[in-house]
Amino acid sequence: MINSSHFGIKPVSGALGAEIDGVDLGKPISAVVFDDLHQALMDYKVIFFRDQDLTPEQHIAFSRRFGEPMEDMFVKESEDYPELMELLKEADDTGYNFGGSWHSDSTYRTSPPMGVSLYARELPPFGGDTIWCNMEMVFENLSAGMQSMLEPLYAEHLAQGYREKLAVIKGDYSKSFENVGDVVRVEVNHPVVRVHPVTGRKSLFINDAYTHRFANMTAEESQPLIEYLCNFAIRPYFTCRFSWQPGSLAIWDNRNTMHYAISDYHGHRRLMHRYTMKGDKPMGMVSYPECNMSSDNISGNNNGNL
Ligand code: SIN
Repeated sequence: MINSSHFGIKPVSGALGAEIDGVDLGKPISAVVFDDLHQALMDYKVIFFRDQDLTPEQHIAFSRRFGEPMEDMFVKESEDYPELMELLKEADDTGYNFGGSWHSDSTYRTSPPMGVSLYARELPPFGGDTIWCNMEMVFENLSAGMQSMLEPLYAEHLAQGYREKLAVIKGDYSKSFENVGDVVRVEVNHPVVRVHPVTGRKSLFINDAYTHRFANMTAEESQPLIEYLCNFAIRPYFTCRFSWQPGSLAIWDNRNTMHYAISDYHGHRRLMHRYTMKGDKPMGMVSYPECNMSSDNISGNNNGNL
């Protein structure tokens, strides 16, 4: 774990997450300081800064150091700042809040985001925390038998499934979903065990929001194991929790974590600015064709609809 001479680092849990102290993100960050911040992100997977007074331009400029901005497929960016998304839950908003389930961001994309930089602008007087879990630690804590069974697998990630699930569970959406585009079916296959492009570490790369089924298996066959693994992943031992204050900023690595925004502040307003960073195509233990996966070659495939 990095020990920087440029800033303080205080881990927030044994699993992941660290608060960085002594860096003003509104000022230019030198290459050596940035390298240490990047290393801290690789080591802790989510890093937190407090008491930052940032204009949207400063937020964008700092976030851009980690990666180019990435558009969301469903939620429109802010009109004034196309690099930012406004996550807003109003006081009178009773709908589902953005990010209110365990997920990695947009894993239905061929190249899901590398990470996110989230800045707190307005917060409720209580609640509204976010929780993350460390998917490398999750993978390490599975049995050797389960690990080797999962390593060659691929899984299908679906955007439509998520939206349908939310509509069924919650009935409606909060205001941050008002810009959500039409429902389209977006599906992509990713390795179940992802190899981190920077550190080479393995992590479990499925999530309850978007992972629909394993390669060459029906959804019905896949769901019990997906459900087991997703429940295993969110054991408190693998998590950290952050209580936001106005001016807090978090950056997380979306390649080896999941997160959950807790909606426990009804009657109060919460406004966050989110910058999403472009990522790469997930790399697995075996390449995609070797596992021979296609939705067409599942023999007797009924996609779980029997
Ligand atoms: C998200 O990006 O999933 C939302 C996180 C949050 O609002 O705390």
